[in-house]
Amino acid sequence: MAEVIRAKTAGFCFGVRKAVDSAFELAETEAELYSYGPVIHNDEVMKSLKEKGLKVIENEEELAAVNGGTVILRSHGVPERIMKLLEEKGIKYVDVTCPFVKRIHNIVMEESLERDIVIAGDASHPEVEGIVGWCRREPTVISSPEEAEEYSPSSDKGACLVAQTTFNHNKFEKIVEIFRKKSYYVSIVNTICNATEKHQTEAEEIAGRVDLMIVIGDRKSSNSRKLYEICSAVCDRTEFIQTVSELSISPDESIKTVGITAGASTPDYIIEEVQNNVRTKL
Ligand code: F3S
Repeated sequence: MAEVIRAKTAGFCFGVRKAVDSAFELAETEAELYSYGPVIHNDEVMKSLKEKGLKVIENEEELAAVNGGTVILRSHGVPERIMKLLEEKGIKYVDVTCPFVKRIHNIVMEESLERDIVIAGDASHPEVEGIVGWCRREPTVISSPEEAEEYSPSSDKGACLVAQTTFNHNKFEKIVEIFRKKSYYVSIVNTICNATEKHQTEAEEIAGRVDLMIVIGDRKSSNSRKLYEICSAVCDRTEFIQTVSELSISPDESIKTVGITAGASTPDYIIEEVQNNVRTKL
């Protein structure tokens, strides 16, 4: 029987757990419940919430058509204008933005009154769209050291650099180095979430000593995809699955140890199902 090593950090992080718990509680009490974008990036969790009556509003046009009920503002955060719109319409909302993301909103809101904002992140990710929506002036989103080289601030007060909470730590360090060498003033706030870092370090460590590594997560979840990238760089046999049904393993003598980790939006029961399945097959 293969030894199974499950990462201690696998699964829900603090922010996601908080958001999911609130959403399930609201689903019990609110007659008409919406969320602006998915509460978290996990299809399974969203499916159970929808079964309990939650409706997902996909964009601002759809939001404009909503005239009542309660709207959950997703864990990745939303632009300020969404809150304003809801207030204008007199619609109740519950903000389940992770406090670490909220901190970034507050930083950029204040700093952008004086200087330019540079966000290290993926411009198309909802978290970054949310951060952009709290800046008092148009920010610049960069995703690589090369883009950091090309950047120069338009304000004589320099720039403030923040990062998407799931941004790669090493890449951020490289970007910081580049900014430090520039002649303009730059205020640097490392806003990468600790949970992500711990998650990634533990996954890499486990993947480095097992024969098979399983990463469980939703394909839309950026932190899950990053875990897969990190693990597959150190373990040739790394599988990325959403649920146990995608796991295709058969008895194999060469597999003596199996590592399991899961993205921050993967619920415990899915991790357990995978773990049990591995135990029965290997
Ligand atoms: Fe928040 Fe960090 Fe999770 S930013 S949502 S605790 S990965």
